[in-house]
Amino acid sequence: MYWPEAGGRKHTKEMHKLSTSVAVLEHELSELRVLLERRAGILLEGSCETLSAKIAEFLESRHLNSAPDLLKLIQSRDSECEALLESLLDGETGFFRPPAAFEIFEKKVLPDLHARKSNESSHPLRIWSAGGSSGEEPYSIAMTVCQTAKVLEGWNIRIVGSDIRPSALAVAERGLYPQQALAHVPSTLIQTYFARIGQHFLAKPRLRNLLTFTKTNLADPGYIGRFDCIFCMDVMRHFSMAQRIALAQRLHLYLEPGGYLFLGQGEKLPGMDVSWHAQTDAGYTVFQKSMASVAKSGR
Ligand SMILES: C[S@@+](CC[C@H](N)C(=O)[O-])C[C@H]1O[C@@H](n2cnc3c(N)ncnc32)[C@H](O)[C@@H]1O
Repeated sequence: MYWPEAGGRKHTKEMHKLSTSVAVLEHELSELRVLLERRAGILLEGSCETLSAKIAEFLESRHLNSAPDLLKLIQSRDSECEALLESLLDGETGFFRPPAAFEIFEKKVLPDLHARKSNESSHPLRIWSAGGSSGEEPYSIAMTVCQTAKVLEGWNIRIVGSDIRPSALAVAERGLYPQQALAHVPSTLIQTYFARIGQHFLAKPRLRNLLTFTKTNLADPGYIGRFDCIFCMDVMRHFSMAQRIALAQRLHLYLEPGGYLFLGQGEKLPGMDVSWHAQTDAGYTVFQKSMASVAKSGR
């Protein structure tokens, strides 16, 4: 998704070899960028060289000989555009990442929601991990919620994990993680919420029962529901500014008044105005939708 410029090199050559047999022209790469930004909000930054290995791999897997063939294919078939996105997107994630966000979630946000929503008859609590990759983030949310179980006993809790990549969602749905993925998770939490299977750990039903996974493209304006909390961490900063503003407006729309938005560490909220209130603790900023907010239209 984020393609840093390779070592400050200048890209003066117009044509870049992708593999021994395939080359891509600058204008073809530009067309690809425009297409992927329109389809998924993704801004493919960086040089052709940086992208070339992944694009070449994709061309080979489809037995294609040229970049124009690739453009034709992804323009005509949604499934192929998605498959290309799968191969280009960065799914880097981890449990309880960043720790300061989960600290605020546990110590401030959940107690505040509990205090404000206790009068609602069915005690609903809805949380969305948007761009939650292979599940580490939504499972971390679920563990934090379970740790405050005494406070939230009898509540109707739903946590939705979504991503654009089906392969990431398949891992999330399985809930099976290698030992090293849980290296930074306290052993008491691992013992409570995971069952050991050889060198892997499987999320227990207590966590899984709180979670639903679904495929969503955050660049689409579709309505997914109302939430008390949305985690959209390390997703938005790779979108173009126009897409970021539109997404921030939609996230505002999806939040209940007084609901909270968690972005990645250091990420800024585009279009920050009086309809949001920022709270910073231990270097992490969480954004709260104003209580009096009238939902902005994101469409
Ligand atoms: C860097 S990972 C961050 C994962 C997780 N939020 C975290 O902070 O640990 C970004 C995730 O956003 C997903 N993503 C990127 N563009 C998306 C889009 N348009 N719609 C939905 N998910 C998207 C990617 O597939 C990837 O899993």
